[in-house]
Amino acid sequence: MSSFRSPSLTAWLKVATLTATSILGASAAATPRAAACLDVWTPITAKDYNAAINPGWNLGNTLDAIPDEGSWNNPAVVQATFDDVKKAGFNSVRIPGKTNENTFQMEGARLTVQVTYTHHFTGSSPDWTINSTWLQRVSKVVDMALSSGLYVITNVHHDSWEWADVSASGANLTMIEEKFYRTWVQIGQTLACKSPKLALEPINEPPANTAADGAELNKLNELFLKALAESGGQNAARVVTLAGGSMDSIKTSEWFKLPTGNYKAKQYLALQYHYYSPYDFIFQAWGKTIWGSDADKATLEADIANIRGNFTDLPLVIGEAEAGMLLEPAARRKYIDFFARTAKKYDTSLIVWDNGDGYLDRSTHTWRDPQLLDILKNAVKGVSNSLSDSTTDGSATSQSSSAYIFHKVGAAVTDQVVKFLLNGNTVKSIRATDGTVLSSSKDYSVSGGDVTVKSAFLSKYLSATAAPGSKTNLTVSFSAGADATVEVVQWDVPVLGSTTSKAQAGSDLIIPITWKGLYKLAAVKMLRNDGVYLFDDWTQYLGPLQQARGTYSGQWDRDGASVKLMAATVAQVISGGVTTTFTFEFYPRVPGNSVNYTLTV
Ligand SMILES: *[C@@H]1O[C@H](CO)[C@@H](O)[C@H](O)[C@H]1NC(C)=O
Ligand SMILES: *[C@@H]1O[C@H](CO)[C@@H](O)[C@H](O)[C@H]1NC(C)=O
Ligand SMILES: *[C@@H]1O[C@H](CO)[C@@H](O)[C@H](O)[C@H]1NC(C)=O
Ligand SMILES: *[C@@H]1O[C@H](CO)[C@@H](O)[C@H](O)[C@H]1NC(C)=O
Ligand SMILES: *[C@@H]1O[C@H](CO)[C@@H](O)[C@H](O)[C@H]1NC(C)=O
Repeated sequence: MSSFRSPSLTAWLKVATLTATSILGASAAATPRAAACLDVWTPITAKDYNAAINPGWNLGNTLDAIPDEGSWNNPAVVQATFDDVKKAGFNSVRIPGKTNENTFQMEGARLTVQVTYTHHFTGSSPDWTINSTWLQRVSKVVDMALSSGLYVITNVHHDSWEWADVSASGANLTMIEEKFYRTWVQIGQTLACKSPKLALEPINEPPANTAADGAELNKLNELFLKALAESGGQNAARVVTLAGGSMDSIKTSEWFKLPTGNYKAKQYLALQYHYYSPYDFIFQAWGKTIWGSDADKATLEADIANIRGNFTDLPLVIGEAEAGMLLEPAARRKYIDFFARTAKKYDTSLIVWDNGDGYLDRSTHTWRDPQLLDILKNAVKGVSNSLSDSTTDGSATSQSSSAYIFHKVGAAVTDQVVKFLLNGNTVKSIRATDGTVLSSSKDYSVSGGDVTVKSAFLSKYLSATAAPGSKTNLTVSFSAGADATVEVVQWDVPVLGSTTSKAQAGSDLIIPITWKGLYKLAAVKMLRNDGVYLFDDWTQYLGPLQQARGTYSGQWDRDGASVKLMAATVAQVISGGVTTTFTFEFYPRVPGNSVNYTLTV
């Protein structure tokens, strides 16, 4: 590594003027001036790094936002956010960008973010100069995260589809290789002297459809290592998490090959992939709100085992995974518990995705589901969590959930049984939101995992005539593991502000709603009056709660005091030319808890 006096960022940028480079020096380009560092540090191997970062958190939809930080749903990041993350027990942060509905649709299955450089290039070929203000901002954010004591992974993010898509028809691979290499030279120089707790990731979810695309991505990984080696500083011994096709576990298993160019010792190499599966559960597609059968678990484990089986000696990082706040909480908690345990079993670290609407409310510094956080941390440590039971049978006609006690307006208050999967623990105590500790004789009784909450206690909150809404949260503590919360909800069927209209092309249809219990929409059935499913006829082969159901975000949504049918849904009605009934379904997912809206043509 060459050494000269610690250069300033601008000095590096000035000297690093390269000409077109094909990978591995075929058209020998000038080697960029290597950065030198004042501090010398002890490198961390990828294996130790991977053990230390679990669990991690993604700074989603921020520096990856397009065109700029703050352009999406989150404000510019501040130090306090990283402090919150560290304090909550996360060990690492991945710093990416965002996905909005557009990218969701474009990418089909993508909810991700890191740093997107696309809109920050100030020069073109062959230098591809990146705006130094932007590089300094990235450097500053990395410093903030490091100073909170977190391990940090940063990448090049939505560039994967903005300009670096090797799978696009007519892609100019020469340009992609040149620009990608130059991008990493500049980032490498900027971050050259950061702590060994900073790891780098070449590019987020690079699209790949064929073995040839996979081979091209292997070339980009090689270029990434070359750029880092040449950018100097501590980068030669810095951990990297390489990327296979789409960061999909199967494509990665099939096409990823370790770089052979000797730009970095193997002990500093890890491999990253992302896991958003099963797709329908994670993305609320086709009415799927149930998860947790033995078959569901076996499928998840087989996926994690498959990629591990292909890369037995490489540290594996799941850089993104999500089970969002809109999901039914008992299913969500079971999913996160099993997923984190399974990843750990296969020696894979896990960094959860948070686009700003997920785990952390950055503006209030509060965690939206503290129980989920505890479940995650315990699962990673191997401590058993007791979990709220819920329906796992996909052929069921209704869905039960012990994350709630539901009481319908008009009904008499009775004893309610809440079921827990104890997983070796015992129930210790229960307290209400106001701090009241429930009496284990008067207020509830326990038999194995069944907790019966007595009507006398529930009558403090519920009655035939109480106003609908959330009444209290019971926090159940166990002999070990995370607490479980049980939300006590008085409910009635929500009421739509109108129930029919003529389909109007071009915009989302916003329908006012009066919620009566939870502010949550479970699913929307979309059935034409001639009996044909508005979308996805094949959902007839799914369970009764999924047939003819649409998909969250792309086809339906809810926002404050309204529910929405997206413009694409309205357009489908118009193009089909048949009046269509939309059945909005709520929690509890029981027969009758739904309302119809008719869109005429
Ligand atoms: C670099 O970015 C800053 C901040 O966004 C902007 O003010 C400046 O004009 C940019 N410089 C160039 C050369 O585009
Ligand atoms: C491909 O990119 C290279 C490098 O930027 C450029 O010189 C060349 O003209 C491009 N080819 C086409 C067909 O645009
Ligand atoms: C490697 O991955 C491929 C593709 O998913 C799979 O068919 C194969 O069984 C895996 N190998 C091992 C040893 O797990
Ligand atoms: C119970 O918890 C939920 C979820 O955090 C919250 O939305 C609700 O307001 C709480 N209910 C009460 C009565 O505090
Ligand atoms: C709602 O529409 C469905 C047809 O999609 C129909 O079967 C059901 O009876 C309707 N419910 C009400 C309350 O009108």
